[in-house]
Amino acid sequence: MCGIIGYVGSRTAVPILLDGLRTLEYRGYDSAGIYVPGHSPVKAVGPIDNLAAKFAESIPGTTGIAHTRWATHGAPTEANAHPHLDMSGSIALAHNGIIENFRELREGLISQGIKFDSETDTEVLAKLIGTLYQGDLLKAVQDSLSLVRGTYGIIVTSTHHSDKIVTARLGSPVVIGLGIDGNLISSDPSALLAHTKDVVYLEDGECAVVTKDAYEILTLKGKRLTKTPETVELEVEAVQKQGYDHFMLKEIFEIPEVIENTIRGRQILSKGKVKLGGLDGVFSKLTSASRLMIVGCGSAYYAGQVGRYLLEEYAGLPTEVELGSEYRYKRNLPDKESAVIVVTQSGETADTLASVRSAKEQGILTLGIVNAVGSTIARETEAGIYNHAGPEIAVASTKAFISQLTVFVLLTVLLARERGMSLEEGKKIVEELNNLPDLIRKYLKNTSDIKTVAKKYAGYRDAMFIGRKFHAPIAYEGSLKLKEVTYIHAEAYAAGELKHGSIAMLDENFPIVALVPQDDVYEKMISNIEEVRARKAPVLAIATKGDKHISEVADDVLFVPKVHPILQPIVSTIPLQLLAYYIGVEKGLNVDRPRNLAKSVTVE
Ligand code: G6P
Repeated sequence: MCGIIGYVGSRTAVPILLDGLRTLEYRGYDSAGIYVPGHSPVKAVGPIDNLAAKFAESIPGTTGIAHTRWATHGAPTEANAHPHLDMSGSIALAHNGIIENFRELREGLISQGIKFDSETDTEVLAKLIGTLYQGDLLKAVQDSLSLVRGTYGIIVTSTHHSDKIVTARLGSPVVIGLGIDGNLISSDPSALLAHTKDVVYLEDGECAVVTKDAYEILTLKGKRLTKTPETVELEVEAVQKQGYDHFMLKEIFEIPEVIENTIRGRQILSKGKVKLGGLDGVFSKLTSASRLMIVGCGSAYYAGQVGRYLLEEYAGLPTEVELGSEYRYKRNLPDKESAVIVVTQSGETADTLASVRSAKEQGILTLGIVNAVGSTIARETEAGIYNHAGPEIAVASTKAFISQLTVFVLLTVLLARERGMSLEEGKKIVEELNNLPDLIRKYLKNTSDIKTVAKKYAGYRDAMFIGRKFHAPIAYEGSLKLKEVTYIHAEAYAAGELKHGSIAMLDENFPIVALVPQDDVYEKMISNIEEVRARKAPVLAIATKGDKHISEVADDVLFVPKVHPILQPIVSTIPLQLLAYYIGVEKGLNVDRPRNLAKSVTVE
């Protein structure tokens, strides 16, 4: 949520900053801006292209800071775009996070005669740094941050110190990239890949002074720290479209490879078992847990819901699921043998991170299912399972969600085999899981039926998704995808719940998307479909191949391969992702960057 990038080196800064902003655009795209010491900030509302258009002639300068914004305080206008200046106009700041006490700080500054140009919380910090500046930029930043409540990842530079950038972090990610012809600072290592893979992550409460060929890390109180650089295991191609029209489509078509990467080296086929190295250190604690609590936000929460069904069904392990934004504020009553598992693609989601911290405070074992290697949640959880799904750029989660479901299958088999699942059953699942990537590869070869159906359903204003058991959360995820990418009003229900109110809304203009694989609740789903048909609602069914009956009750059917029930949610999700994608494209929308959204939600 908001992306920051800074460069200090020997090359012209603006092109480097624009490229970095393009990679970070998924974090927010309400407005963007660049500041190069000695020049006025250049800002534009909307995508990075609008900002780039203002640099018909690049400006000189080999140091600069830049920002792409997801608006929290103040509308997405040019005045509210970052970087913001202090009152002398010589210090500039870009910020990711929220300054919670900005109102009181602002009033104090106004009473000192300081004028503000924007409605943002960030400008307050810029002005504060300016008032405390007495020749030492680092000290002014440290002193200002000691007065601030909230979260921040900041980069600051100045005309008086155009050879350095000061950065600091509390709650919002900051990573320093060590390049050959200069150093960079960013909120995400993906924006550094074109220049370097050698990085140093800042932790909460740390700040740094970065120059062309050096960096110094300190605590906010000024204590020097030594950190060894790490190597980012990512290729630059992973954050490019590679011939696909959109990242969302590319990421859906990467699903077979993503499943391969998620399961690689983690199955023992002959024993029908699973091995998760990241859990080795906590294995006995985890297997003796009497209850699990899964926590996540957005799609990760729905993946957790599927996880709950699987863990209860196959491992017989009582499991609850909670939204990060609820878990962190409610009274949780864990027993000593509980474990909390957080699910997060970015590893930075503020509410999920706060949940980890709150569980740790209660002395509960905290585990992470995390995609972004080295992210804050990956580092703060006691142990965990990496998804290895690669960077996900499209705002709507697709491949990462599938990878999260895959991890829950692995975790379920791991625990179930300890808790009585037979060797035979374990082998069956592990073997089918191994074959799944090729099966999906084949399935993705022909998606023309989904395109046709998408054209037909693109004109509706509403839609309702229904499913039961493992597929109830998939219905919710399908409706979330449709909302995010197409702005069609979509709801989801566990199918049996429909008749308790929501069926009142149905008519011939309110289609139903029914998840109806041939599983143990198939008959019940067919009854629910009959009920909605009686209200004339058009029915689009996601059914399993070989189902001869479904075409008699549904207007349209998208068939998916039939697999072991534990794997079926993975397969059933894919047509829902493609349906949302093709409808979004049909409506001419920016499917990769839907309005009002950001991929990494680092505000609360
Ligand atoms: C945002 C994204 C969603 C994502 C959610 C949780 O809302 O747009 O796609 O599911 O955050 O993100 P996380 O990184 O924690 O999985």
